[in-house]
Amino acid sequence: MRKTFDFDTRTVLITGGARGIGLELSRQLVAKGAHVIAVGRDAASLNALAMELNGSVTVMQADLGAPGGVEALSHWLRETHPQCSVLINNAAIMHHDDLTADGPARLDAIAAEISVNLAAPLQLSVAMVPVLKAHPASAIVNITSGLAIAPKRGAAVYCATKAALRSFTRSLRDQCRAARLPVQVTEAVMTVVDTTLSRAGSFRKYPPARAAADVISGVERGLDEIWIEKTRLLRLVHRLSPGLAYRIMRDR
Ligand SMILES: NC(=O)c1ccc[n+]([C@@H]2O[C@H](COP(=O)([O-])OP(=O)(O)OC[C@H]3O[C@@H](n4cnc5c(N)ncnc54)[C@H](OP(=O)(O)O)[C@@H]3O)[C@@H](O)[C@H]2O)c1
Repeated sequence: MRKTFDFDTRTVLITGGARGIGLELSRQLVAKGAHVIAVGRDAASLNALAMELNGSVTVMQADLGAPGGVEALSHWLRETHPQCSVLINNAAIMHHDDLTADGPARLDAIAAEISVNLAAPLQLSVAMVPVLKAHPASAIVNITSGLAIAPKRGAAVYCATKAALRSFTRSLRDQCRAARLPVQVTEAVMTVVDTTLSRAGSFRKYPPARAAADVISGVERGLDEIWIEKTRLLRLVHRLSPGLAYRIMRDR
């Protein structure tokens, strides 16, 4: 593999870095010589990560969906970790809801999903550009989903946030290139992975350690887009027949 990006000795911010795919990213990046800053809400999983990766991880408890959460995190990061040269926007939540069914008002739940999955990665990316562009080589990695290509019926807001994050990632990459910034902007199009986020489905799921390894090797190779496992097939089907791709994904 031809490496164009090396994680050794880098400081890497991973949102949602203490659970699921983020936990595996933290472990594997530390094994490659990086120092990880892992962000999340749950103190128990952050503390467990700090114990496991003793000295190679800084944990930061923050709610990216709370008002002012992203501003506080990016301010803290700029002040205390200007050496940070990689941002991995990984944290997300997924709500399943039948939006046509009678029920309680859904506006708060919709706002929360948009805040964590879309507003936070957009704002963090933009807040981090001044820090990242000061390095000779740096990276922003946004984790999207096959559901950004073709949505499923039961998680409409989640799918919309991932499609929007995919669009933003492309524009930000184009802006960084036009401004000749040394910032590699990568999208990882994630397959179905065995974590709490995907617990609703009963089909075969990709192991989180393999998903994390694929993301890392894609960034090391300097890829604009990393298509993980079955999303490669989805991309092909969607190119040939968008309608078929939509039908396949609709009831996942
Ligand atoms: N699993 C899949 O099948 C799948 C498929 C396609 C794409 N993805 C994408 O892969 C990424 C990782 O998902 P995963 O499967 O690892 O999910 P997960 O196991 O549910 O982990 C989600 C992570 O996000 C963090 N998080 C959630 N809300 C947060 C908030 N308000 N503030 C800060 N951190 C927050 C969680 O930490 P706390 O709970 O401690 O806050 C946790 O570390 C997501 O972007 C997801 O959309 C996953």
